[in-house]
Formats: sequence, C-alpha cells, structure tokens
Amino acid sequence: ARIVFSGIQPTGIPHLGNFLGALQNWTKLQQKAHREDALLFAIVGWHSLTLPQNPQALQVARREMLAALLAVGLDPKRSIIFHQDENPHHTELAWILNCITPMGKLLRMTTWKARLAVAQNARHDSEVDESELNAGLFTYPVLQAADILAYRATHVPVGEDQKQHLELARDIAGIFNRTFKPLFPLPRYVATPTRRIASLKSPGTKMSKSSPDLASRILLTDTDAQIKSKIRGAITDSIQGITYDPLHRPGASNLLTILAACTGAEGAEGVAEMAKRYEDKGHGELKADVTEAVMELMRQPRSEFERLRGEIGYLAEVARDGAVRARERSEVTMREVRKLVGLV
Ligand code: TYM
Repeated sequence: ARIVFSGIQPTGIPHLGNFLGALQNWTKLQQKAHREDALLFAIVGWHSLTLPQNPQALQVARREMLAALLAVGLDPKRSIIFHQDENPHHTELAWILNCITPMGKLLRMTTWKARLAVAQNARHDSEVDESELNAGLFTYPVLQAADILAYRATHVPVGEDQKQHLELARDIAGIFNRTFKPLFPLPRYVATPTRRIASLKSPGTKMSKSSPDLASRILLTDTDAQIKSKIRGAITDSIQGITYDPLHRPGASNLLTILAACTGAEGAEGVAEMAKRYEDKGHGELKADVTEAVMELMRQPRSEFERLRGEIGYLAEVARDGAVRARERSEVTMREVRKLVGLV
C-alpha cells in the first residue's frame, strides 16, 4: 500500500499556480487511490514562519488554506487533512534528524540561497550575508524531511521546485537507516504533471503570492470579470502564431500550460497537442479560450470556498479530527525512533 504525503504553506488565498500545481493534483490522486492507500495532506504553518508573517494574517491564512483544500474536493473521510503545527511529532523528529544531517548537505540547498538573494536585492546591498538569515530557513528542508518520514511516506507529489528537498529527505532517511536500523522507506518523488505556472506579468518567474503586482496572479476568489481582465493583460510577445517555447516565448507558453492543465490535457504531450491546435491562431484567440477554461475550472471550487471559509466551527472540527488521526500514525513511527536513538 502507498502512503502519500504532501504539504502546502498557508499563504493566503491560493492562486492558480497552487491550484493547478498542487491542489487539483492532490484531488486527482485521492480519486485514483486504492482503498488500502493512506493519503496525508498538511498545511505547514511551521515552514511559513521562516519568513516574517503578520500573526493575525497567518491565523486567517491557515484556516483559509484548509477551506481551500476542502473546496477543491479533498475529502476528510478519505484523506487525513491537518495542520502540521498541531502535530508536535514533526518538530520532535526534525530535531533528531537535524542531529544526523551534515551541514554540507544543507549548504547545497538552493532555497536559502534564493532567500539570501532576495534579502540582498531588497536592501540593495550585496554585503548582506547568510549570518543574517534566520536558522529556521537553513534547516527548513530537515523539517520537510521530518514531515514526510514521520508517516513513513512512500510517495510525495510535489512540483519541480521541491525536488531538491525530496532528494535530501531520501538522503536523511538513508543515513538514519544505516546509522540505526532500516526504518524508513525512501520516499519517492512524484512529479506534478503540470509544469510550473508562471506570473502573468513577468512570465520568466513563477506565479507567487509574494509579487506586489496583483494582476500577476489569479486567485481562487477572483470573479469572472477579474479573471477576464487579468488574462487579457497577460504579457505575451509580438511573434505571429503560437508555439510552445518556454525559454523564448514564456508568456504564450504559460498560457498553453494553463489551458492544457485546465482542460485535463496536462503533461508534456497535452501541452504539445495544445500548441499544435493554436499554431496558426493569434494571442487574442488563445487568451479568450484560456479565460473560458479558467472561469469554468474555478466556478465550483470558488463557490465552495466562499461557503466554507465562514464555517469556522466546521473547519475547526475537520482540523481537530485530522490532527488526531495524523498523530496516531506518527506516534507509531516516533516510538520506534525514540527507542532506536536511545531516548526511552
Ligand atoms: P509551497 O507551499 O511553496 O507549494 C505547494 C506545492 O505547490 C507547488 N507550486 C506550484 N506549482 C506550479 N506553479 C506554481 N507557480 C507553484 N507554486 C507552488 C509546489 O511545487 C508544491 O508542490 N516546502 C513546501 C511545502 C512542504 C512539503 C513538505 C511538501 C513542507 N513539507 C513535505 C511536500 C512534503 C513548499 O513550500 O510548498
């Protein structure tokens, strides 16, 4: 049987990148899963603290991310949906894993280096050095490994950007198994079929919540009119016809990726087929079709989300139940871990 684990940071209302890159894929995995498979989806509050957060906003974002997971069709009866920060086994295991993880492996991670570059740009100061970054940012991938290994997960569906973290999780599992006793299966990277969704305004970068330009992303709560205007304003190029060429034509390529993902034709073949269909058409026609497809895809989850986000009592109940079920599973692992390392 498979144990599927994935996580998402509580970063406010999810955008189209979160939706196509993670949430929609999780729902499909849930539909395809066998009865004996276990599925766990965590909202990773502790990871989000590695960047400065407004406490009130985080509290809302955490709850709304849960509402979003339910709105896209994750079923709390079928999947264990929970807040990472409500299961202390994650931090307990993370500490133990920290103590067997070589610093050199963490130094090679690109995530904290990317943060360093952001900090340098923000301060216009290339002299900002890593000693100013918080330690959590540095050990972030160890906590991620703990998330996965606490459940002895076998399959981890994530986007390409998380591949390096998953390789580290496998490395750490291997070190633990060799040092103590084989306990952890090596978790497998399951690539999300949809390629990274890019910003509508600077299609060379990924669609993200941190961009100050609101027109660069489509939110789960956007109205049809907002979706229309954002896609109409998406940056493309002036080359005739449509081709899929992410390097030279990132804007048009991103629209093709979105259209393919919205219409269930994801993956490389889906996108190639979509490109063929539009090769003699113009950007206007492509944008009109992307608009229709996104509006259609968002309609139902949006109204579910609007309904659920106010159901505070129900959301609290789902979270409580999810945390209890998650803890039951991770306790089994932790009992073994504590015994193996000598902490009983
Ligand atoms: P996070 O919250 O940045 O993203 C969650 C998932 O969404 C994917 N994703 C995207 N896909 C397509 N286009 C985009 N623009 C886009 N932005 C994000 C990501 O690849 C990811 O799969 N460190 C993780 C969270 C995490 C985790 C874990 C994941 C913590 N512990 C354990 C798996 C297993 C993160 O920051 O994801």
